[in-house]
Amino acid sequence: MFGKKKNKPTIDQEQLALIKNAEKRIKQKKRLYIHFVIFLIGAVFLILANTLLGIGDTFKIAGLEWFVFAIGFWLFLFIYHFISVFVTHKFMGKAWEDEQREALVAKQQQRIEALKQEYLKEEHNIAKSQAYSETLNVRTPSEKKTSELTIIVAAGENNAIGKDNDLIWHLSNDLKRFKKLTSGHHIIMGRKTFESFPKPLPNRTHIVITRQANYQAPEGVIIVNSLEEAITISRNDTQPFIIGGGEIYKQSIHLADKIELTRVHATFESADTFFPNIDDSIWKEISRTTHDADDKHAHAFSFITYLKR
Ligand SMILES: NC(=O)c1ccc[n+]([C@@H]2O[C@H](COP(=O)([O-])OP(=O)(O)OC[C@H]3O[C@@H](n4cnc5c(N)ncnc54)[C@H](OP(=O)(O)O)[C@@H]3O)[C@@H](O)[C@H]2O)c1
Repeated sequence: MFGKKKNKPTIDQEQLALIKNAEKRIKQKKRLYIHFVIFLIGAVFLILANTLLGIGDTFKIAGLEWFVFAIGFWLFLFIYHFISVFVTHKFMGKAWEDEQREALVAKQQQRIEALKQEYLKEEHNIAKSQAYSETLNVRTPSEKKTSELTIIVAAGENNAIGKDNDLIWHLSNDLKRFKKLTSGHHIIMGRKTFESFPKPLPNRTHIVITRQANYQAPEGVIIVNSLEEAITISRNDTQPFIIGGGEIYKQSIHLADKIELTRVHATFESADTFFPNIDDSIWKEISRTTHDADDKHAHAFSFITYLKR
């Protein structure tokens, strides 16, 4: 009951076809051999019929006995038979050759198709890994960087950036700077920041990150399900911007190349959202301009640009 399963002998279909064709070939040769023997006997019989029995001994063509032409014609038929066995249908016959050619072509086509699929798979993997490398800023020294991923943020001295899904201050020069820097570029943001806008900002491509599968947004707004996807989509932009909020800043600060910070010189204790610490060992300040408070600006602030070291 639990004994070893016996292997049933199986015959390969190709082998079977080869055997059949070999049998056919033997028959063809046999028939040619029989034809040859009959031809020899027939030729002798024709000669004897004419010379010994005197059949048609008065019938001559161009001075030659009729059996010469009869044997010549038969020889022609035999040669034709010989050629058709050994020359025209040289191997297993034409049908067999056609069949083999078709089988070979079908096999090659299958192989080409498999190679194509492999190539497409490989191409897809290369593209994916390139996109991933670019996302993580992993580039070989020879690869030139074409996109400068920039974080733009306004943060208090205690890194406060918002409260109740809104900004805590209104600084008109900061908004003007934001508009000037980001116009014409991709702006990447978390779903909550996007919802804090009354409507999409003009002249910018919005990329909104959400974990929701069917998040609905106005036409033209790109919805993605991960930060990596957002960065990949914007990688043809020379300077895509990450514009917040707190969650997205936290996840992207190690991926960014540049930070455009508006440091608001005040501490906002009531804030509920914060920017991560800017580590001096990673970020180098390359420019700073400071503005005092005035009637349009309740707080003093500085525009500071950092580049990744
Ligand atoms: N001062 C500034 O410069 C500045 C700039 C921007 C924003 N803000 C302030 O920041 C606050 C909003 O920030 P926030 O941290 O609450 O929210 P947020 O970062 O704007 O958005 C968070 C949402 O993004 C989605 N998300 C985050 N990480 C994700 C990931 N890895 N994959 C997929 N989706 C992801 C989730 O959306 P779902 O829940 O839909 O899945 C999450 O709820 C507001 O107060 C705003 O005013 C300040």
